[in-house]
Amino acid sequence: MTDTQPLLSVRDLTVTFPTKRGPVRAVDSLAFEVRPGRTLGIVGESGSGKSVTSLAVMGLHSGAEVGGSIVFDGQELVGLGERALNRLRGRRMAMIFQDPLSSLHPYYTVGEQIAEHHRVHFGSGRAVARRRAVDALAEVGIPEPERRAGEYPHQFSGGMRQRVMIAMALACEPDLLIADEPTTALDVTVQAQILELIARLQEERGLAVIMITHDLGVVARVAHEVLVMYGGRAAEQAAVDDLFARPSHPYTRGLLDSLPRLDDSDDEPLRAIPGSPPSLLTPSPGCAFAARCAVAAAGSDEERARCETERPPLDGPAGHPVACHFPAYEGIAS
Ligand SMILES: Nc1ncnc2c1ncn2[C@@H]1O[C@H](COP(=O)(O)OP(=O)(O)OP(=O)(O)O)[C@@H](O)[C@H]1O
Ligand code: SF4
Ligand SMILES: [Mg+2]
Repeated sequence: MTDTQPLLSVRDLTVTFPTKRGPVRAVDSLAFEVRPGRTLGIVGESGSGKSVTSLAVMGLHSGAEVGGSIVFDGQELVGLGERALNRLRGRRMAMIFQDPLSSLHPYYTVGEQIAEHHRVHFGSGRAVARRRAVDALAEVGIPEPERRAGEYPHQFSGGMRQRVMIAMALACEPDLLIADEPTTALDVTVQAQILELIARLQEERGLAVIMITHDLGVVARVAHEVLVMYGGRAAEQAAVDDLFARPSHPYTRGLLDSLPRLDDSDDEPLRAIPGSPPSLLTPSPGCAFAARCAVAAAGSDEERARCETERPPLDGPAGHPVACHFPAYEGIAS
């Protein structure tokens, strides 16, 4: 399937926010592609730039400076006018936001909101849009969709609200779906149901999906390709099997080590990566991960100095580049 043309192709993406304390470069030199029917998992801890990246693709950054190139189905989106972007958003690319309550209006019924979305993008009449809203709720497994279409967001549970968001995003049959942490607030069973739902809809419609998460367990289940982000940059990119078989960046390895394993005893605490994310206001000239990196800590003075002063380029074979001077696997990067 990888021989199909990418639906989305992002090159050298930068997103900079002007702030009182100086410019904050939240995303830097990012590149990735998503093909029809495929899922790109974007993974990274809080503040690594996952949401900023997805909002940039949707053209939803007001006040930020977006550089580089975002090509969707042959059309350059960086610099595209608001009207043209509006036509694409919702209709051809849709997003499930991190916080479903903030993106559902409390005063309108769920059915009205999905129907309105459909009316705006297809110019359909009220009856058709309402029918489509009920169908969309049924499609995402909401029981009694006729009745529930007449209810308000607060009358839905967290998992059901997340389904409503998916119904709304998919009502216009987009080609690209960006799901920003769609399962974080949900318990494991509901989380599994939501992921299965997205996978089923993807299979039925050939949707291209970007699945954003801080959870490598979710990535393992749904992604075909993976982008690991750290401090607004790519730390490692690979096909999902290759990433799990040969995780090469010390940050990726740290994330994998913090995954619960089946053979872990119950009372063994989860290993988190010690330290905190890098400052985006005063970025280090070297590797952003240096202060937390076990490989650098175990290296010679010379190796450590290199990590602290020289930024590692994203390097290695096209299918598995890594931004590290001392990656775990030979041949992955120099
Ligand atoms: N409007 C803004 N102005 C200034 N800085 C911003 C703005 N929006 C985001 N940032 C900064 O960009 C960085 C990346 O934020 P982003 O929301 O993309 O993180 P994330 O990876 O989605 O994290 P999480 O897992 O917590 O959702 C953060 O350091 C954040 O403070
Ligand atoms: S470049 Fe150095 S500090 Fe950065 S991840 Fe690699 S070993 Fe660690
Ligand atoms: Mg986020």
